[in-house]
Formats: sequence, C-alpha cells, structure tokens
Amino acid sequence: MNLKGKTIILGVCGGIAAYKAVELTRLLKKDGADVWVVMTRNAREFVAPLTFQTLSGNPVYSEMFLPPPAPPYKGGERGDMPHIDIAKKCNLLLIAPATANIIGKFAGGIADDLLSTLYLSVTSPVLIAPAMNNNMYANPVVKDNIKRLKGFNINFIDVGVGELACGDEGEGRLAEPDTILSRVRELLFNPPNPPFSKGVEGGLKGKTILVTAGPTHEAIDPVRFISNHSSGKTGYAVASAAQRRGGKVILISGPTNLAPPSGVKFIPVKSADDMRREVLRESENADVIVMAAAVSDFSPVSYSDKKIKKEERESITLELKKTPDILEEIQSSKLKAQSSKLIVGFALETEDIVKNAKEKLKNKHLDFIIANSVNSFGSDSNKVAIIDKKGNVEDIPLMPKDSIAEIILDKVAQILKKD
Ligand SMILES: Cc1cc2nc3c(=O)[nH]c(=O)nc-3n(C[C@H](O)[C@H](O)[C@H](O)COP(=O)(O)O)c2cc1C
Repeated sequence: MNLKGKTIILGVCGGIAAYKAVELTRLLKKDGADVWVVMTRNAREFVAPLTFQTLSGNPVYSEMFLPPPAPPYKGGERGDMPHIDIAKKCNLLLIAPATANIIGKFAGGIADDLLSTLYLSVTSPVLIAPAMNNNMYANPVVKDNIKRLKGFNINFIDVGVGELACGDEGEGRLAEPDTILSRVRELLFNPPNPPFSKGVEGGLKGKTILVTAGPTHEAIDPVRFISNHSSGKTGYAVASAAQRRGGKVILISGPTNLAPPSGVKFIPVKSADDMRREVLRESENADVIVMAAAVSDFSPVSYSDKKIKKEERESITLELKKTPDILEEIQSSKLKAQSSKLIVGFALETEDIVKNAKEKLKNKHLDFIIANSVNSFGSDSNKVAIIDKKGNVEDIPLMPKDSIAEIILDKVAQILKKD
C-alpha cells in the first residue's frame, strides 16, 4: 500500500535540517502522496521555496495574508484563506524539521503565522519530527512543550543522537527521511492507540522486565576491540515502552550512543563476560527477560595489556574463542524453573532468517523470538517476524523500532495474562 490519494501538508521550519525536508518531499511524492509544503518565513532562509515547489508539483505557502483577489469584484469573494483551504484537504500534517520555536507555539496555542494557524485548523493527525541543538532539546521548556503536545495525542518522532549540524554532539538530529516516511505510512494506515493508553492497560504493572541492548566490545588491547554494528535502539525502545506500561525495568546495555530512558535501572557493560555476569545476577528477580543485545559470539583468546605496535610486525593473527551462551545459562541455572520466567530472544541472520530463528527458539526454549536481518542495524525502523512456540510466524511490516517494541510488549502482556 502506498500513499496514493493521501494529502500531506509538510510544514518546514527554520533549522539546518530543512535540507532533509527536500529529500522527504521527494520520498513522499515517490510514494504517491499529494504534498503541499508550508514553510515558515525563517525556513526560507535555509532552502528556497522553488526547490519544494518543483519537487512537490504544488505551490509553496508561507504567508498568511495574501493580496486580495484582483478587481473587478463581483461580490461574495471571500479572499484567499490558505490555512482553511489547505487544512480541509489534509490527511496528515507533518512538521519536519520542527524547531523549538514552532513546538512552543503549538503547545501554547499561538497562531501568528501560516503554519501555527494551520496547526490549530487541521482535524487530521499531526506528526512532529523535531530537530535542534542538543542543549535546546534538553531545555526543560522544550521537554515540557513536547510532553504537553503528546498529551493532546500529537505524534512525535524521536530525535537521533550523534553529531549535530552546529558541531556539537548529542540528542537533537532530525530522524532520517526514510524513518519519517515509514512513520507517516504507519499513522495513515495503522493509527496507533492514543499515546500512553497502552501504558495503563499494558499488563506490566508489578512485573520486573530485564532488557539487554546494544553490542559488546571484546578487547584486543587497551585501544582496540572487536564488536558489531548494533545500535541498541530496539532494546532501548523496549525498555522505555515497558517503563511507560508500569513495569519495573532493568536495562543492561553494551556501549551505545543512546541516552538511557529515565526511570529505568541502567547497568552499562562492555564485554560479553560483563553482560553475562550482570544478566545472571539481575535475572534472578526478573519476570520477563528480553534479550535484544547483540552479544559478540567470539572474543580474543588473549588480551595484550600494552598496545600492539604495528612497527613490530607485518601481520597478526587473532585467535578467537566462543563467548558464553547467556541464554543457555539462564535456562540451565534453575532460574527459569524456579519462577517461570518469560524469555524473549532475538535472531539476527543473513540467510534463512525464519528457519534459523525457529531453531534458536526451540534450542533455547524461548517463549517467542524476533527474527530480523542485518539491514536493520543503526536504522530507526525495521521489518521483523515474530515466531511463537507453536511455530506461528507473524510478519511485521517495516515500521519504527518504537512501534515494534510496543508489539513485542503487547505479546508479552498477552502471555502473562494467560499464565
Ligand atoms: C544557522 C541557524 C540554524 C538553526 N537551526 C535550528 C534548529 O535546528 N532547530 C531550532 O529549533 N532552531 C534553529 N535555529 C533557530 C531558529 O531559526 C529560530 O528559533 C527561528 O525563530 C525559528 O523560526 P520558525 O520556527 O518560525 O521556523 C537556527 C538558527 C540559525 C541561524
């Protein structure tokens, strides 16, 4: 299903990431949407309206007050009211990038330009993709405005973490255009429940949920390690959603660029050995274990406590040994038997994805498993299959990892309810 027949108003604000809205316009058009771009005056400082006009094939609006219709008047002319006219045909109002300023205006009900007035006029869903400097994003006023808008069922796409246009590092990057597109599709074809409603009914109250996330680093010497591309996004999304649903959450994470969700017990680890130790200790009290970490399967047999100098040799051979199988240890360590824990595994494969995941599900006695391919590494969205004990395979289409986390926890809550 594509976006054919859907009218999307894309609000573009005055931030560096406005250039990414150009690619987003192209993707939305390619997917069949009728795209109408509304730029704030400040956005025009960053990208020329002609770029959006050419890509969208529609005029670009910015001004509230247009010149009156040309005389002679016949009487009854209402004049142009772009905020009403465009609002009427809109299926989704998407703001990308959304500045701290526009978020503040939306939260405060200020309508002093076309985009903020349009926001008050539309009856369609609204999706906001913020982008700003990390300090701006961390400012309590901005946080509070986002929280307030979420309370009005306004949808947000999480900002990314990393290098920002201003040169700083941290939270504040605009989500990637393909992630925004998949969220648009999801909102238009699969509207989620109102924010936080699942948190009340999510069935995790009083339960302890242990989540592992991220990669591990297996040290070769004090400066080098072997690892993998896991970003930790899925595990962090599960931890954050489980916490919202009322669970007590323990997040054990290998090194990532992500900020731990507030309110969870956060245990940072480095190596597979660290991960094993912490998981075995914490799993004692857990009712649910979600093993989303990409723990290294191998680690160097020996560690050099001095940096291996390249001047001293032409080549080196690294001997690797298998790392401990944490899932197997949980199963064999009586822990599971003692208190019927619900265990969810992940299988990351390059081939025969479902077949291999089914084998892992059986061998590790999991309650269900999420099968995914390596393409998901680092991306904000993923396409997975969930396989249960009976071998039923549920294909989940491409969607943000936040939404996949909700689906996983729906399934967890369902199983807990049955038990
Ligand atoms: C070079 C430059 C980059 C900016 N980038 C951002 C940004 O990424 N996010 C943001 O919230 N504000 C940013 N600002 C500040 C906004 O442009 C400013 O708050 C403006 O009032 C926003 O107007 P608008 O929301 O009507 O587009 C930037 C300003 C400059 C000069």
